[in-house]
Amino acid sequence: MTIDLQRVRADTIGVNHRIHLNNAGAALVPTPVLDAMTGYLRREAEIGGYEAAGEQADRLNGVYASVARLIGASSDEIALMENATIAWQMAFYAIRFRPGDRILTSQAEYGANYVAFLQVAKQTGARIDVIPNDASGALCVPSLERMIDERVRLIAITWVPTNGGLVNPAAAVGKIARKAGVLYLLDACQAVGQMPVDVGTLRCDMLSATGRKFLRGPRGTGFLYVRRELMLRLEPPLIDHFGAVWVAPERYELRPDARRFESWENNYAARLGLGVAIDYALSIGIDPIMSRARLLADMMREALMCIPNVEIKDLGTERAAIVTFTVQGVDASDVKARLAAQGINVTTSQPSSTLLDAITRSLPTVVRASPHYYNSEEEVYRFTETIAAIARNDN
Ligand SMILES: Cc1ncc(COP(=O)(O)O)c(C=O)c1O
Repeated sequence: MTIDLQRVRADTIGVNHRIHLNNAGAALVPTPVLDAMTGYLRREAEIGGYEAAGEQADRLNGVYASVARLIGASSDEIALMENATIAWQMAFYAIRFRPGDRILTSQAEYGANYVAFLQVAKQTGARIDVIPNDASGALCVPSLERMIDERVRLIAITWVPTNGGLVNPAAAVGKIARKAGVLYLLDACQAVGQMPVDVGTLRCDMLSATGRKFLRGPRGTGFLYVRRELMLRLEPPLIDHFGAVWVAPERYELRPDARRFESWENNYAARLGLGVAIDYALSIGIDPIMSRARLLADMMREALMCIPNVEIKDLGTERAAIVTFTVQGVDASDVKARLAAQGINVTTSQPSSTLLDAITRSLPTVVRASPHYYNSEEEVYRFTETIAAIARNDN
């Protein structure tokens, strides 16, 4: 299946105004998402918020099925959250750590996750151990295997980090975790929407993701997957009377599904938008999406590699559609501003987002360009030509 570029670009009004290469930040939502959300908001204005939710209950419930289809799970294993961080935190803070418990994590771990490890380590006496990288810069699977012992309580890694195209071997990690009977929490925030995600193949117990990045959903959406058998044993760290029904003055009962991690009030227009974004991606096909996004990212890297003073910073042998680089003598924020002046959106990635990796590699703030399948080859060409001009310092 190939992608009808003309059609997907016709569905993307943002491409008429900008060259959007910030899909790892927030992608351009396609028109069906925009229409579903504005249509829903209109209904809220016309008949009332509670009444609109009642009227559209089937569509809203269908969002769980859409997420489940996307990642090979069941609807009852999905909680809809306001972002990936909350989803991840709900899973992580549900685990009761004891002194000496070990948390194994990746070198490229995301800052929000790592500060939570530090907090829990401080509060409980648990220990954080970082799995070394292999020569390519990806998480080293044999090293992980050697690190397993009876004190390992959790393996929590980032699949695709925020600061580059690296794809960590998430399924190989899952195989080790399952064999050792260790909990496995996977941050799939930058993976969903740009590559196939199947929780069965990954053998993860918990997975968190966001809506606004490669899935092309609205901001303020995310989801958590928790494997059914585990979910029934996990007490959410925070509850309200939606996730836990107040059944008697002295007693509550947790919901029998992953919605025990949710709370009562939600942005239903955004949820609907997330569901439509997922259905849209599935209708195009995740495999063709991955092929095209990676093709464009590889084109970008090949062109950038030929520009003097530009250094690509992506690790690993398998690479996703996130391209990070520096331009010698020009701050990343200046590169971003000069691209913006030409109508090209990229962002920067700070050392503090992935501090361990940044320290190990002495990384400064880097420029991050992230194409998606709806970008054209012409846009990538204009981007790399602009970088060449910036590197030559002619304006
Ligand atoms: C690897 C990774 N994990 C988690 C997050 C957090 O996602 P959110 O902002 O939706 O909470 C990000 C955001 O950039 C990310 O890149």
